[in-house]
Amino acid sequence: MALYAIGDTHLSLGSSKPMDVFGGGWTGYVDKLRRGFEAVRPEDTVVLCGDLSWGMSLEEARADFAFLDALPGEKKLLLKGNHDYWWTTARKMNGFFAENGFTTLEILHNNCWLYGEIALCGTRGWFYEEERGEHSAKVFNRELIRLEASLKAAGEREKYCFLHYPPLYQGYRCQEIIDLLERYHVTRCCYGHLHGGSHRLAVSGTQDGVEYRLVAADYLGFCPEKILD
Ligand SMILES: [Fe+2]
Ligand SMILES: [Fe+2]
Repeated sequence: MALYAIGDTHLSLGSSKPMDVFGGGWTGYVDKLRRGFEAVRPEDTVVLCGDLSWGMSLEEARADFAFLDALPGEKKLLLKGNHDYWWTTARKMNGFFAENGFTTLEILHNNCWLYGEIALCGTRGWFYEEERGEHSAKVFNRELIRLEASLKAAGEREKYCFLHYPPLYQGYRCQEIIDLLERYHVTRCCYGHLHGGSHRLAVSGTQDGVEYRLVAADYLGFCPEKILD
C-alpha cells in the first residue's frame, strides 16, 4: 500500500482545452499520465491536488472522471483547484460519481480521509493571484475555515495537508495558512498550481516542522509522487 500525490492533470477529454497546445512537457500529456500511473498499484491511494478537468460542468468533465477513475489506485481524493469550474456540492459530486460508477473518486473538502493512521487533510488554499475584487477577503476567510475544519476532523492523528495553491513561494508567504499548518502540527504539505517557469520559484524542503513539496503534474513529468509506503 502506498500514498501518492499529483495535481494539475488539466484534462479536457470532454471539452476543448487540451494542454498539448502549450508544447514542451504537455505534448501527449494524457498518455504520459497513463504511463505515469503504471507505478500505482490497485490498493494505493492518490491525492489529486486540483485543476483536474477543464470541464465547465460535471457532465462536461465526465470523460475526465472516467479517465481518472480507470487509472490504478483504490482511492483518488479530489481537491478543488482554481480551474475546477465543474466543482459543485459534495452531495452532487458524490451522486454523479455513484450514478456513473466512478467508484475510486472521493472528495477532500471540509473533511479528512485516513491513510492508515495518518490523516489526509486539505483544501484549495489561497494565492496572491486571487487578491482582487471585493469578494477576495470573504473567499480567503472561507478557505481558512475549510482548512481548519479539515485539520480539526483529523483529531490527534499525524496530519498531511494537500493544497492546490502553494502556501509559500519565492518572495511570498500566506502566513495565515502556514500558521494553521504549524498550529495543527502538519508534518507534510503537498501543493500544485505552479507551471512552467514558475517551477523554479517553488519552495520545497522542511520549514518549521512542515515538509513542503510541489506536485503539479508537469513538474513531476506526469508521474504521481510517492509520499509514503
Ligand atoms: Fe491552478
Ligand atoms: Fe494548474
